[in-house]
Amino acid sequence: MTAEEAAEIVQNDWTIGVSGFTIPGNPKVVPAAIAAKARREHEAGREFRINLFSGASTNDPTDGELSRAHAINFRAPYQSLGELRNRINKGELHYNDRHLSEMAQEFRYGFYGKMDVAIIEVQSIDDNGNIVLGTAVGNSPTWLQVAERVIIEINEQIPETIRGLHDIYVPLDPPLRREIPIYHAGDRAGTPTAHVDPDKVIAVVHTSKPLGKNEPFTPVDEVTARIGHNVCDFLVNEMKQGRMPRTFLPIQSGVGNIANAVLDALEASTDIPAFEMYTEVVQDSVLGLLKSGRCKFASTCSMTFSHEAMMDFFDNIDTLHDKLLMRPSEISNNPEVIRRIGVISMNTAIEADLFGNINSSHVSGSRLMNGIGGSGDFTRNAYTSIFLCPSIKKDDCISTIVPMVSHVDHTVHSVDIIVTDQGVADLRGKDPNQCAEEIIEHVSHPVYRPLLREYLHLCKQGHVKLNPDLALSFHSSLAHHGDMRKTDYSEFFHADDPK
Ligand code: COA
Repeated sequence: MTAEEAAEIVQNDWTIGVSGFTIPGNPKVVPAAIAAKARREHEAGREFRINLFSGASTNDPTDGELSRAHAINFRAPYQSLGELRNRINKGELHYNDRHLSEMAQEFRYGFYGKMDVAIIEVQSIDDNGNIVLGTAVGNSPTWLQVAERVIIEINEQIPETIRGLHDIYVPLDPPLRREIPIYHAGDRAGTPTAHVDPDKVIAVVHTSKPLGKNEPFTPVDEVTARIGHNVCDFLVNEMKQGRMPRTFLPIQSGVGNIANAVLDALEASTDIPAFEMYTEVVQDSVLGLLKSGRCKFASTCSMTFSHEAMMDFFDNIDTLHDKLLMRPSEISNNPEVIRRIGVISMNTAIEADLFGNINSSHVSGSRLMNGIGGSGDFTRNAYTSIFLCPSIKKDDCISTIVPMVSHVDHTVHSVDIIVTDQGVADLRGKDPNQCAEEIIEHVSHPVYRPLLREYLHLCKQGHVKLNPDLALSFHSSLAHHGDMRKTDYSEFFHADDPK
């Protein structure tokens, strides 16, 4: 069928599951055709909105086109596209921010009702319903199981050599679940192909759209380079102190320029041995690490490469084929596996508070940025969990270290280390007030240190120091004056108080 013919099948209020995880692996033509159908329906005065489930964020033809067409009623579990974000923040649609490892099983448990159709990008499908997926796995194996109907997009750009790079394993649901047989990052637990009941396939659409993402690459700058070096120095010291095996442990690292800076520092380090990754995304910098041998193996959910890096990977497939596996999100981010193999997690924070709580998702407490993504899956189960951020943003107007986070995604109980361009705060083995000292002295920016100390001085003593009137004072200064430095505690001090 054409994409337009396939889109005609989709009805108002249907629940749709799409393949992929970040831009790779998403369907490229059917979602945009559904958006066009939505526009026609709206022009004819009819309702047309769908409920959309994915692996993680998606591409412009999916989240972009569908949100521009006002065609999304409900969205889960993660997004990162500006237009969709704005509509969510305006309350135009419902957004359910979920741990990525839990989405598939929660759908199988029946928490979200039925899935009317799954739209899955593949390299190939045979008559028995065996599927070679594309450049990400996401939640496709579960969508293929639970969806009542399946639309297949065969992308002719996906080379045949991708066969064997997938490891498809769908756990049984409780009370039947067994342990997931992954004991090292490179272990294969499942099969190279996914499967669908051929009777459910209602359409096969061909496309040859580019596979990779084409967003501009943000170069590492001075601040992110310092964060990268601080992480590297911390990890080297952990090995020296005997708190981390000399053979090192698998790392998880996200996307973006902070993650790139960390990977650059790890690549250059002569003290850190060649390592493995157990992560949800690999970006262009990981391709370099795989080629140089600094990264021995990458277990991922998605090849989040640019189009050029994707082509480069497949040009070098002979040497790279045994160095990478793509797994479903529920396995790439699996708490059991992450804890067993001892993953070092590294995720970016929007802000951290004096007691080690982390906000990853909501600017100033209410404005959704992207979502929690896999950060919770990895942080809660890591051998060592690390959060990274610059100490200040927007020409010093924002301190990422605040008295109290305006939204909590990760509580201090799961957070071991915070790293900024200023240094490293080690929260392990410290009580809340020792954490506050450590964070102010080691990772906050010197411009904000006096204010943070003043805040603590104005708090009621307790296991956790708190001043309920001033806990969000940095945020209210940002809201009223556009600058957290304008926080002024002077009226709260008594004349005889030492400042
Ligand atoms: N207070 C107010 N605004 C803030 C802020 C803060 N503490 N921190 C960031 N912002 C604003 C920035 O100014 C920027 O605004 P702009 O778009 O108007 O310039 C915006 O929020 C984005 O900030 P930026 O620093 O560019 O974000 P980033 O690209 O480095 O991403 C996260 C940081 C936290 C949003 C991102 O890593 C994320 O979504 N994490 C959650 C998902 C995750 O961790 N997944 C697992 C790994 S893939």
